[in-house]
Amino acid sequence: MQEKRITLRRLAAVAIAAGLPVGATAPAFAQSDPIRIGLILPMTGPFASTGRQVEAAAKLYMAQHGGTVAGRKVELIVKDDGGTADVTRRLAQELVVNDKVAVLAGFGLTPLALATAPIATQSKTPMVVMAAATSSIIEASPFIVRTSFTLPQATLGIAEWAPKNGIRKVVTLVSDYGPGIDAEKVFVARFTRGGGQVTDSLRVPLRNPDFAPFLQKVRDEKPDAVFVFLPSGVGAQLMKQFTERGLDKAGVRLIGTGDVTDDDILNDMGDAALGVVTSHHYSAAHGSAANKAFVAAFGKANNGMRPNFMAVGGYDGMRVIYTALEATKGAGGEALVAAMKGQSFESPRGPVTIDAQTRDIVQDIYIRKVERVGGQLYNVEFDSLKAVKDPGRGQ
Ligand code: PHB
Repeated sequence: MQEKRITLRRLAAVAIAAGLPVGATAPAFAQSDPIRIGLILPMTGPFASTGRQVEAAAKLYMAQHGGTVAGRKVELIVKDDGGTADVTRRLAQELVVNDKVAVLAGFGLTPLALATAPIATQSKTPMVVMAAATSSIIEASPFIVRTSFTLPQATLGIAEWAPKNGIRKVVTLVSDYGPGIDAEKVFVARFTRGGGQVTDSLRVPLRNPDFAPFLQKVRDEKPDAVFVFLPSGVGAQLMKQFTERGLDKAGVRLIGTGDVTDDDILNDMGDAALGVVTSHHYSAAHGSAANKAFVAAFGKANNGMRPNFMAVGGYDGMRVIYTALEATKGAGGEALVAAMKGQSFESPRGPVTIDAQTRDIVQDIYIRKVERVGGQLYNVEFDSLKAVKDPGRGQ
C-alpha cells in the first residue's frame, strides 16, 4: 500500500517536472487504487481511550474480514486529532482532498463530528460516526450515518427504571456539552413522568473537571441518587471522589448512562463501583455467542484489552462500510450512503438496524448492575428495552 502511494507521488512529481497537469496521471491508476477509509480519532489527550478502542476494533474487523472489498484493497488511514475540533476539520479536509478517501469515520466527541459535517456535505463523502452521541449530530449532514448510540436513547432505560425501584429524588450531574445536555433533558422528562423529582441539575466542564464542589453540593442536598453522564474515560475520577466525599455512606446512590462505568476502566474502579446501576447499549458481559467471540478476539489481538462501547461502535461501523462497499461495488458518495441505510445485523451488542429514514442506529438498551464476575467487575445486564430509536428525534 505504502509503495503504491509513493509511486503515485513520484509520478505526480514527474508530471509536474514535465509541465503536465498532475491530474493527468490519475485516471490510469483509479481502478487499481485502494479504497481509502479515513479514521479520525483522539489518539492522544484525555479522550485517548476512545481512539485506542475504536482503532483496535476497526483493525480487528479488517483482520477478520479481509483487506479487500469489491476486488479492491481497503486502506485504513488513522489520524490523531487529539480531541480538538480544529484539528479534526483540517485532517478531514486533507483526507478528502489529498487522500481521496471514500469514507470519513471515527469522531470521538460531539464537537469533532459537528466540525466535520460541512466537509462531508460539500465533498459528498459518507461520514460514519462511530463514537459521538449527541442526538442532533445526525441532522448536521445527509452524509452522516451513526453506529454508536445517542444519549437520549441510552438515558431512557435508567430514567424509567429508577422511579420503579425506590428512587424518588435525584440530582443530575452531567458534562456541560451536547451529550450531557441531551442526557439531562431526557432524564428529567422521563424520571418526572415516572413520578420522580429532580431537585437540582448540575453541569461540570468537559475538560479537566473538578468534581469535588459538585459532589459536595449533592451530599448537602441528600437525594436518593445522583444521575451522571460523563464521556467515556472520565468515570474513574468521579467514582473515586464519590467515595472519598462519603456519598455512598451518606446513602446517595450513583446511577447513570453506561459511559460512567465504561468497560475500559471499570475493572480498575474497585469495590466502589459495585452495585452501580446504569443503562446502555453495550456491555462486554453481554451473553450472546457473537459477543463472546468478539470479546475473545479483541482481547487476543490487543494484549488482553477488554472492548468497551466505543470499540463496538468502531467494529460495527466497519461492518456497515464493508457491506455498503460490496453493494456499490466500491462506488462512494450518495450511493454509498444509500447502501448503508437500512442495514440490519447482529452486533456484539445485540440486534441493530441503521434506520433507513434517519440514518441513526436503532438498538436494544440494557439495564445493568456492576457485579464481580470471576474476580472482575462487569456491567451485568438484567433487563432491556427492545429496538429503541433515538427519542431525541420524535419517538
Ligand atoms: C460525545 O462527545 O458525543 C460523547 C463522548 C463520549 C461518550 C459519549 C458521548 O461516552
